[in-house]
Amino acid sequence: MRKMLVTGGAGFIGSNFVKMILDRKSSNRVIVLDKLTYAGNIDNLRGYLSSPHLDFVRGDIGNAQLLDLLVPGVDIIYNFAAETHVDRSILEGGSFVRTDVMGTFTLLQKALEHKVPRFVQVSTDEVYGSIEKGRFLETDPIMPNSPYSASKSGADLLVRAFHKTYGLPVLITRSSNNYGPFQHPEKFIPLFITNALEGKELPLYGDGRNVRDWIFVDDNCRAIDLVGRRGKPGEVYNIGAGAEKENRYIARKILEFTGADSGLLKFVSDRPGHDRRYALNSAKVKALGWKTRTSFLKGLEKTVRWYSKNQRWWKKIKEGSFSEYYDRMYGERLDQAKNRKG
Ligand code: NAD
Ligand code: TYD
Repeated sequence: MRKMLVTGGAGFIGSNFVKMILDRKSSNRVIVLDKLTYAGNIDNLRGYLSSPHLDFVRGDIGNAQLLDLLVPGVDIIYNFAAETHVDRSILEGGSFVRTDVMGTFTLLQKALEHKVPRFVQVSTDEVYGSIEKGRFLETDPIMPNSPYSASKSGADLLVRAFHKTYGLPVLITRSSNNYGPFQHPEKFIPLFITNALEGKELPLYGDGRNVRDWIFVDDNCRAIDLVGRRGKPGEVYNIGAGAEKENRYIARKILEFTGADSGLLKFVSDRPGHDRRYALNSAKVKALGWKTRTSFLKGLEKTVRWYSKNQRWWKKIKEGSFSEYYDRMYGERLDQAKNRKG
C-alpha cells in the first residue's frame, strides 16, 4: 500500500488525477489536502468522498502544523495546489506568491523533515516564457512573463534547490495547457464553451493568434503518475501533446461544436504581457513510456459534450462571485469591442 498526499486535489487537474488513481482499485491510500479557494470544488470529487481509500482534508499547504499531522508516513507528495489563473495574477499577485512560492516552500520543508521519499511538483510550460519557433526543452532557461508564471518559477527553483542542497528526491513536471471536464469556467476553453452554450459573447484577446500546446487532462494525469513512479529524482519532465493551436481556431471549433452563432466571437483588447506561443519537446517523458491517447479534436468534442451535460456544475460557479470577476475582467473590453464596431 502506498500513501499519497495530493495537494490541490479538489481543483481541475488534481481531481481528475485523484479519480484516476482511485478508479484503479489498488490498495493505495490518497489524502487530498485542499484549501477550497474559489477554484477548488468539492463537487469535483463527488462519488469518491465515501471511498475508504480517500481522505479529504480542507487546509492550506502553507500551514506547517497541519502538515506535521498529514505528512509523516506519506510515500509520495503530488503538489498540484496553486493559484493558477494568469488574468487573476495580473489583477492581484499576492495570493500567487503566498501559495505557489511560500506554500510550496513550507511543503518542501515538511517533506524534508518527515523524510518523504518522493515529491512531485506539478509545474507548467509557462515558466519558460514565450517561444517564437521550435519547442522548449527541459534544459532551457526559465523566463516567466506573468505574476503566475513567475510564482510557479519561484516554486520550481526552490524544488530544485531542495534537491541540490538537501538531497530531497524531487521530480518536476511541466505540462502545457490542459483542457477537459471539471476545468473552472474562468479558463479559455471552458469559458468559451459555457458562454457559447449561454448565447454570451466569446472574448478573444488581441488578434486571437496566440498559440498554446493543448493536452487533454487525462493524458497529463497519466504522465504525472508515470513520472511519480518511474522518473529520476532531480529531473524535470515536459508534458505536451504537440497539439499547437491558435486561439481563434479553437474559438471557431467551439462555435461549430456547440452550434452557437458565429457573431458571438468578439476580439477584445489583449492581456498585458500575453505570451505569444508555447510549445514543448516531450521526448523525455515519452522515453519513460508515455504517449498521448486523445487527439485535440476528439478531446475538444468530449469536453463540449461534458459541459453541455453538466450545466448545473458550471452554472453554480458562474452564478456566484464569478460574475463580479467577469464584469471586472471583460465588461469594459466587451463594451469597447462593441463601440469599435458601431
Ligand atoms: P485549479 O485552479 O483548478 O486548482 C487548484 C487547486 O488548488 C484548487 O482546488 C484550490 O482550492 C487549491 N489550492 C489553492 N491554494 C491552495 C493552498 N494554499 N493550499 C491548498 N490548496 C490550495 O488548477 P489546475 O488547473 O487544476 O492546476 C493544478 C496544477 O497544475 C497547478 O499547480 C498549476 O500550476 C499546474 N498546471 C496547470 C495547467 C493547466 O492548464 N490548468 C497547466 C500546467 C500546469
Ligand atoms: P488561459 O486558459 O487563461 O491559459 P494560459 O493563459 O495559462 O495559457 O488562456 C489560454 C489562451 O486563451 C491564452 O492565449 C489567452 C487566451 N484567452 C482569450 O483569448 N480570452 C479569454 O477570455 C481567456 C480566459 C483566455
